[in-house]
Amino acid sequence: MKPLRVLVVEDLEDDYLLVRDELVAAGFTVVSERVDTAETLERVLAARDWDLILSDYSMPQFTALDALRILHASRQPDLPLVIVSGSIGESSAVAALKAGASNYVMKGSLAQLVPVVDRELKDARTRRERNEAFVALERAVRARDEFLSIASHELKTPLTSLRLQTESLLRAARRGGDVDRTNERVTTRLEAIERNAQRLTHLIERLLEFTRVTSGAIELAREHVDLVALVGAVVAQLADTFHDARSDVTVTSPERLEGSWDRERLENMLNDLLSNAAKFGPDGPIAVELEDLGSAARLRIIDRGIGIADVDQQRIFGPYERAVPERHYGGFGIGLWLTRQIVEAHGGTIEVQSAPRAGSTFTVTLPKGLPA
Ligand SMILES: Nc1ncnc2c1ncn2[C@@H]1O[C@H](COP(=O)(O)OP(=O)(O)OP(=O)(O)O)[C@@H](O)[C@H]1O
Ligand SMILES: [Mg+2]
Repeated sequence: MKPLRVLVVEDLEDDYLLVRDELVAAGFTVVSERVDTAETLERVLAARDWDLILSDYSMPQFTALDALRILHASRQPDLPLVIVSGSIGESSAVAALKAGASNYVMKGSLAQLVPVVDRELKDARTRRERNEAFVALERAVRARDEFLSIASHELKTPLTSLRLQTESLLRAARRGGDVDRTNERVTTRLEAIERNAQRLTHLIERLLEFTRVTSGAIELAREHVDLVALVGAVVAQLADTFHDARSDVTVTSPERLEGSWDRERLENMLNDLLSNAAKFGPDGPIAVELEDLGSAARLRIIDRGIGIADVDQQRIFGPYERAVPERHYGGFGIGLWLTRQIVEAHGGTIEVQSAPRAGSTFTVTLPKGLPA
């Protein structure tokens, strides 16, 4: 049974029933309504969603051209309208098609009705799908433009700092002067240069990894990895980040948790999830829980940060997607997308549980990938 919500613009009840029966006989489950004035058409169009309008050409109260005008001004202007008329001359038919009617059928040859309706419904579906694809594409292009602006900004910040440091070093070198004092300042500047250069390298590596993964499937370099040791190492690497965020990190885990995984990819994943916990959950504790599920490992990263609204919880795993204003938080919006690609390449899953201001829990389940 094919459901069909059809609005029939028709002054004759008998003709309305005839059209209806034709559709029912063809296997449609018909929900229909008959209207024969401009006011009722307007009201019924506003009241509910329809799949199709069948309209007589000229009625005592108004014509199909009026119906088309009302349709185009309504909230569902793309509905197909097929004229079903007892007597429509060639010039009227042309006028109706020009005004936006999709097709016409003569009441004398109602056998034509069902094929025409089928085709119009199919065309309408194609149009709808195209529109949806277009909207999604527009959204993706907008997100990418925003990403480019964020990326340029993120890359420029350490670069500007780097240039300031080198310029000041150059000035000092040209001036000569007190060697001891300069030496100390030189060391501090060089350290700052080193930090900014590292930051830049890290950002560029992320972007390169992003383009690599976008343009093809991830090729895993599996090796024997102890996840407990890896988590310990990444937490230690991020000590400064957690210190700056005033967040204490606790790790709960078994003695060891081993699997056949891509070490570098898992390191990136841990880096992303833990950096997010620090970035979006400052001043609160962060808990990392590792659990041995037998054939899989489970990782939970729990923060008490700003949380994520329901509507954003799926979206943030997409490329460039962010759920926070650009001004408040840096970031490309690619970390979770990369993380998901890494987890899925390992045959695992990632999900989030969160509520605004209550914190977030990211749960990763990774099959161990070891022979049974
Ligand atoms: N722990 C968290 N708490 C609250 N929101 C989060 C958390 N982790 C991620 N988000 C939300 O999901 C979005 C996407 O995260 P993702 O890591 O992909 O991007 P990002 O951190 O903004 O940038 P980057 O690419 O530099 O990591 C974030 O912008 C943020 O809105
Ligand atoms: Mg991130």
